[in-house]
Amino acid sequence: MKQLSNVRSIIPESGIRKLQMLASTIPEAIRLETGEPDANTPLNICEAAAKASYEGHTKYTAVPGYISLRKAIQSDLKLNYGLCVEMDEIIVASGAVMAITEALLAIADPGDEILIPDPAWPVYEMVLMTQGLVPVHYRLDAEHGFTPVLSDLEARVTEKTKAIMINTPGNPTGAVFGKDTIVMLMDFAIKNDLYIISDEVYDSIIYEGKHVTPKAYDNDGRVISIMGVSKKYAMTGWRIGYAIASKQIISLMNKIQITLIGNATSVSQKAAEEAITGPQDFVEKARLSYKDRRDKVYELFNKAGIKAFYPQGAFYMLVDISDAGLQSEEFALTLLREEKVSVAPGGTFGNSTDHMIRISYATEEAALLEGVRRICTFIQKHRKGL
Ligand SMILES: Cc1ncc(COP(=O)(O)O)c(C=O)c1O
Repeated sequence: MKQLSNVRSIIPESGIRKLQMLASTIPEAIRLETGEPDANTPLNICEAAAKASYEGHTKYTAVPGYISLRKAIQSDLKLNYGLCVEMDEIIVASGAVMAITEALLAIADPGDEILIPDPAWPVYEMVLMTQGLVPVHYRLDAEHGFTPVLSDLEARVTEKTKAIMINTPGNPTGAVFGKDTIVMLMDFAIKNDLYIISDEVYDSIIYEGKHVTPKAYDNDGRVISIMGVSKKYAMTGWRIGYAIASKQIISLMNKIQITLIGNATSVSQKAAEEAITGPQDFVEKARLSYKDRRDKVYELFNKAGIKAFYPQGAFYMLVDISDAGLQSEEFALTLLREEKVSVAPGGTFGNSTDHMIRISYATEEAALLEGVRRICTFIQKHRKGL
């Protein structure tokens, strides 16, 4: 039998998915590894999807999505960010991850270098490698609040660099980039003639500061903003995300989308439309609840003398596990085996976080706090070499 694809055989494994698979075989495990809101999708959204299916929204849709959904996105962008976006500057895809895939396929060719953060959501590197693109990591250090530093970015640029990917609020850091950082990134991209793929899927989940989208500073069409409904409305399984970009880029993404999926699922699009246009109280309630959980979790780590990094957004916290004397994957596997708590090993997000773990605090509160207590006990036990 001939070999499988050389390019794609070397795609790294996602450490989050690995822990997820292992944890799913242990029914009593406390699950802090996956970034998923604990709440169910609000009822009005489920009902809208059911109604849409009875009413015949069960056929192919326009490739970039129903006009009604794109209009809802258009109004939402105006309302939230004062952005004036035309209908053909929006494409609805099956989740933000597909929008990222299509954006890269539209702007880059195999061998091109793409700047991605270290640490970053592991899927960025997987998507790049799937496409024969070369990931070049820039640093997000705790000492700079997990925000990029211009001199570090400049040092990574070569003739082959095509784009920079950014993510704010950030996974796994929880960092929120302020206006100065976004303006710095825009200037950097213009100076080096790079595209910016800006992953903003956590834009509604911010506790301190406010979301600044680089799209608001984009005067020549180099920014592709990626947004979605998964995290905001607890709709991870519905698979709806979208991209906002220039007409030229969206037009190419449309062609690419035809080859990948044709169009995002019709009833899911109708669900997303209801999410965006319907009552918004769920969003604020969820945000306040994550904020409360963040503070409780941070306090538990603090009291145990364990260094955790205080996030301003998203629902992740990085925790320093150096004291336990284990690398992050070994730590996560042993923790799952001994304490029945599943976390994401920091090493899956990049080399800089191999002495950390990431926990998602979007998990139900009682289980979350019990999980954190067990992590503290586990670290203390290993600290003493027990
Ligand atoms: C930074 C980031 N971008 C994108 C996604 C995926 O979003 P979607 O469910 O819309 O594909 C995730 C999911 O964890 C994420 O953390």
